[in-house]
Amino acid sequence: MSTSGSSRAIVGVPREASGEARVALVPTVVPQLMRSGLQVLVERGAGTLAGFPDHTYEAHGARLGRRDEVLESDIVVRVEGWGIDDVPVATSHPDQVVVGMVDPLESAGAIRTAADRKLTAISLNLVPRITRAQPMDALSSQATAAGYRAVVMAADHLPKMFPMLTTAAGTIPPAQVLVIGAGVAGLQAIATARRLGAVVQAYDVRPAAQEEIESLGARSILLPLAPGDAQDPSGYAKELGDAFYRRQQELLAHVVEGIDVVVAAAAIPGAHAPRLITANAVAGMHTGSVIVDCAARHGGNCELTRRDELVVTDNGVTIMGPTNLPSTLPHDASLMYAKNVAALLALITSDGSIRLDMGDEILRSMVVTRGGAIVHPRVARALEGVRDV
Ligand code: NAI
Repeated sequence: MSTSGSSRAIVGVPREASGEARVALVPTVVPQLMRSGLQVLVERGAGTLAGFPDHTYEAHGARLGRRDEVLESDIVVRVEGWGIDDVPVATSHPDQVVVGMVDPLESAGAIRTAADRKLTAISLNLVPRITRAQPMDALSSQATAAGYRAVVMAADHLPKMFPMLTTAAGTIPPAQVLVIGAGVAGLQAIATARRLGAVVQAYDVRPAAQEEIESLGARSILLPLAPGDAQDPSGYAKELGDAFYRRQQELLAHVVEGIDVVVAAAAIPGAHAPRLITANAVAGMHTGSVIVDCAARHGGNCELTRRDELVVTDNGVTIMGPTNLPSTLPHDASLMYAKNVAALLALITSDGSIRLDMGDEILRSMVVTRGGAIVHPRVARALEGVRDV
C-alpha cells in the first residue's frame, strides 16, 4: 500500500512464475512513471532473466523489495496471469489493482478469486483493437515477438538454407515458406522469412489480410472457399463451421505438399484454434519440412501438434508446438510489454493516484473484476457453468 504520508500509489513488479522469462516493467519506463507521480517497487531478481539486473532498476529510480512487500503494492503488474492464486489472502487487499495477460478462457479460477478478494483485475488480453488503445496493445507487441521467433525456430530446424544461393558449387533453391493466419504474428513471420530470403506464401480467411500479405512481398493464396462474413465488427476472424473447415483442410493439404516451412498462426479470440492441417496433410509433406504451430496454446492449427513438444513424424516432418514464444525473447518482449503497461498505468492513474473511469471504453473492455463482482459481461457469460480451471 502507499507509504504513510504519501498519496503516491506504488506499482509493484513481482518476479514471474518459473518458466516465464519476461518482466512486466523495465528500468527505462520507471522515470516516466515517477514523473506521473507513481512509485515503483521491484522484487529483487524480477528482471534478471530478461537482462535487466536489479541495479539498473535502482539507477532509474525504482526501489527494490521483498516479494511480500511487492505483492502488497497498490497496483501489481505482471506478464503471465495475475498470480492471485500464489498470493496469500493476507497480502492482497481490497481495491488493489492487478494487471496481467489473462485469457478468460483459461482462467476461471483466477477470475473468481479476484472477484472474491474485491480486486480490480485488468487483463491485457482484452485490449480493444482501436487506435487509441494501440499503445497498450500487448497482444500485438507479444505476437510480434512470437512471429519472429517462430520463423527463427523453423530456420534452426530446417535442413536447408532460407535464401537462394548461386555458388561455384551450384545453385541452392530458396526455402518455400507458408504462413497460415496473417494476424500480427503471421505478418511478422512473413516479414522475417522474407528477410531471411525465403519465398513466402500466406493465407488468411479475412479478405482484408490479402493486401497486408502482398505489401510484405509474399504471395497471397486464395482458396476456392466462400467464407462469407469471416470477420466480426471488431476485425477478428469468426468461427466458420465444420463444413467450411473440412473443405479448408482438404485444400490446404494440397498447398503444404511442396512447402518446407509452415508457420501456423491462425486464431479466433475466445475459441479454440481452428484445425487446419490434418495428419493426412502432414503425411503428404516431404521429409525435413518443419511446422511451427503458434496456436499450440489453444489446441493447435495442426492435428499432430503437442503442446511444448517437438514431434518428428514417420515421414520426417518436424512439428513444434511452443506455447510461450515471447518468453524466449524476454528482453525485447519485456521492453514492448513495459511500454504497454506504462500506457495502461497512464490511463488508470492521475497525479499518482488510482482513478478508474469505467465510462472509458478501453477500461470497460479490459477490467474483468471490480468491487467483488465480475464486471465484464462477456467474461461473466463465458464463465457461467465453467468450473475453475
Ligand atoms: P488473431 O491472433 O486473433 O488471429 C490470427 C489470424 O488468424 C487472423 O488474421 C485471423 O483472420 C486468422 N484466422 C482465423 N481463422 C482462420 C482460418 N480458418 N484460416 C486462416 N486464417 C484464419 O489475430 P490478431 O493478430 O490478434 O489480429 C486480429 C485482428 O486485429 C486483425 O484484423 C488485425 O489486423 C487487427 N488488429 C488491429 C489493431 C488496431 O489497433 N487497429 C492492432 C492489432 C491487430
